[in-house]
Amino acid sequence: MPSPILIAPSILAADFSKLGQEVRDVVEAGADWIHLDVMDGHFVPNISFGPDVIKSLRPHTKAYFDCHLMIAPADPYLEAFAKAGCDSITVHAEAGAHLHRSLQTIRALGKKAGVTLNPATPLSVLENVIDDIDLILIMSVNPGFGGQKFIPAMVDKIAAAKALIGGRPIDLQVDGGITAETIGSAVNAGANVFVAGSAVYKGNGVADYRANIEALRAASESILV
Ligand code: DX5
Ligand code: ZN
Repeated sequence: MPSPILIAPSILAADFSKLGQEVRDVVEAGADWIHLDVMDGHFVPNISFGPDVIKSLRPHTKAYFDCHLMIAPADPYLEAFAKAGCDSITVHAEAGAHLHRSLQTIRALGKKAGVTLNPATPLSVLENVIDDIDLILIMSVNPGFGGQKFIPAMVDKIAAAKALIGGRPIDLQVDGGITAETIGSAVNAGANVFVAGSAVYKGNGVADYRANIEALRAASESILV
């Protein structure tokens, strides 16, 4: 039976000097999605990469490109990220005044529309736009950096998001501090897509990455049986 759990390694934790290789390696190692953390040094206190880097990675794999925009404003750049080859584009609810417009724009570009919430943002901001969403991302750290500790209070928020989703075809993703120790609580609460940066890009190359991804899957599956 295929695993209902999707693992989305964040290339933020990869070696930026050989990103193409790092993407190919992690896909060969069993990654389901590639998580692309875009940071602007304004919405979050760090700068990562933009659409040109994503475009240059696109020919390296057919894997699903899951783009997490930590930028404000996001709307002027949505088309560039769509054209770069992202399959889903996730915006922060805190990043602009017109979340509904952002979601509509992403869908009009033919991409899956995601929305994410900082730890302090209540889930209720999604209630009135729930039918315009393909993916909800619950941040389990404050965005901006990899390698931070999972915030346990986010487990209840994941469960509440699962209840809000109900029977809708919306993915429920969690991002930040996901390790073999923390993934179980997020699985239990109802998440189905797991971003992991430092826990996947530990070591070097396919064999290490495969062991890291398998450890995450094993930890999630032990909860599911
Ligand atoms: C944080 C990013 C995360 C981060 C996850 O701003 O959105 O995707 O790279 O890294 P880890 O798994 O190391 O917490
Ligand atoms: Zn992310």
